[in-house]
Amino acid sequence: MLKRTILPITLEDFFTDIPANCTEPVLIRNISDMVSLFIDGEQALQEGDRELYRFWTIEPAPGEAGELAYGVTELYAGTIGSEFNMTHGHYHAGSGAELYMGLKGSGLLLLQNREGDLETIEFGERTITYIPSGWGHRMVNTGDENMTFIAVWPTGIDHDYDAMYTHNFKVRVLKTEDGVKIVPRSED
Ligand code: F6R
Ligand code: ZN
Repeated sequence: MLKRTILPITLEDFFTDIPANCTEPVLIRNISDMVSLFIDGEQALQEGDRELYRFWTIEPAPGEAGELAYGVTELYAGTIGSEFNMTHGHYHAGSGAELYMGLKGSGLLLLQNREGDLETIEFGERTITYIPSGWGHRMVNTGDENMTFIAVWPTGIDHDYDAMYTHNFKVRVLKTEDGVKIVPRSED
């Protein structure tokens, strides 16, 4: 198992095929997987479900602490209603930081802790952002092209997706005639 994870892998491997050494299959998220997170999610779903992004993960030792897991996400360009496409977002249960590195495209990385402090980071090619332990994270693609980024995080942590429904981000990111607009979620 370990031997496979230290074999070199190119970024091309992530885009041409699901890497043979991924311990998990590629994960695909559709509108139907996160419908209530978008203002117009229901309406978009009625018009037809579609893929929003996919990600590939390599975990050297799933469930074991002290190693590093890593993966690539491809987040498609576009909007759901007036809202830019985004990842579901999650918190790491317990503790566990993460590093995001931009490969292609541009967007906004939303970070928010459980106390409700929010950080909005412009994220693009070659951007490297450290996500401290305890901060929920969601990537929003505000550009015209698909966005790809690498994530590296500690193994042995759980991803808390339910928290997005109790401690969701305080803002939405909308496409308007004047460009990208960040609006409070409470104004829905
Ligand atoms: C791992 C991580 C990323 C995301 C991926 C998909 O801790 O933050 O690899 O898992 O970008 O986003 P989610 O997990 O929110 O569906
Ligand atoms: Zn994460």
